[in-house]
Amino acid sequence: METVRVLVTGGAGYIGSHLVDALCEAGHEVHVLDNLSTGKAANLAHRLDEVLLVNGSILDAELVEREVEWAQLVFHLAAAVGVRHIVDDPLASLLTNTRGTENVLNACFRFWRKVVVASTSEVYGKTAKVPMQEDDDRVLGPTTVHRWSYSTAKAIDEHLAFAYAANRLPVAIVRYFNSYGPRLDERGYGSVVANFLRQALAGEPITVHGDGRQSRCFTYIDDTVRGTVLAGFTPEAEGQIFNLGATRETTILELAEMIKAAVGSSSVINPTAYETYYGPGFEDTRRRVPDVTRARELLDWVPTVELEDGLARTIEWWEKTHA
Ligand SMILES: NC(=O)c1ccc[n+]([C@@H]2O[C@H](COP(=O)([O-])OP(=O)(O)OC[C@H]3O[C@@H](n4cnc5c(N)ncnc54)[C@H](O)[C@@H]3O)[C@@H](O)[C@H]2O)c1
Repeated sequence: METVRVLVTGGAGYIGSHLVDALCEAGHEVHVLDNLSTGKAANLAHRLDEVLLVNGSILDAELVEREVEWAQLVFHLAAAVGVRHIVDDPLASLLTNTRGTENVLNACFRFWRKVVVASTSEVYGKTAKVPMQEDDDRVLGPTTVHRWSYSTAKAIDEHLAFAYAANRLPVAIVRYFNSYGPRLDERGYGSVVANFLRQALAGEPITVHGDGRQSRCFTYIDDTVRGTVLAGFTPEAEGQIFNLGATRETTILELAEMIKAAVGSSSVINPTAYETYYGPGFEDTRRRVPDVTRARELLDWVPTVELEDGLARTIEWWEKTHA
């Protein structure tokens, strides 16, 4: 395969650093632009002789232009991530997730670089329709509930990307569904897996938010990354959105039971009201299941790692790094 110069924004983060690994292993030259707000240089420590880590913000338009000019292909993953961050600091999160993406897309348009934009299953909001197809309607709560600002900001990113695509910029959008695996962060998306693991290993109560009957499709990082790379290198991906998620639905209670059993924990499982964590008025989505037909047809992508297997690999990493 031809060596390509690739820029990964957010490349020191959980998904970004695994993406960087995959790109390096395929022989590409990689720059990372990351302000290390939730990302960590340690996630790239094993690559620092191959990868240039630029410690800066996507809000710095000049810096973004310099890095995009250098690259031939851009993966845009930098974002304020996770419901917790959004609820805690809605203003900063919104600015990063809208203005930052605007800077990246502007620069890609100026230098004519293909860009893959990382979006989210949150874009679908609280729709009751499952499985979710990329062109489905979005169903959101009121603007007074901060949680929906993340979904809205990511949807603006997608609209922006399509506005540039209407001017022929090659763009592809990937909507991730609950990715988990090594390097997940307790403050980020993987928080449910990370929190349960920590609590189960410590023998503390496993705190399930709500009644635990809400379900998610937990997607192992290798599947998340393989789909992202394919979106970047497959010409048919241009102008498309792809759901990248496992199709097996798991309730949060089931996840708690699985993790508890996998580590041989005696923890009790403790369902607790959402309000305890997020304050009054918090709304959650009950089910979130992707239809992955488009990714299968255009990218030849299907999720391959079973939850039991992915959890075992994650637990192995956790035990090595949290000893
Ligand atoms: N993990 C998931 O399941 C999931 C689900 C849906 C969408 N996503 C999306 O995937 C992308 C990566 O998420 P992640 O889970 O790896 O989270 P993460 O927090 O580990 O990664 C985000 C990265 O962006 C960096 N960043 C934040 N603000 C920045 C700024 N202003 N300038 C430069 N860098 C900045 C952070 O330091 C971090 O390294 C995000 O766009 C996120 O919205 C993730």
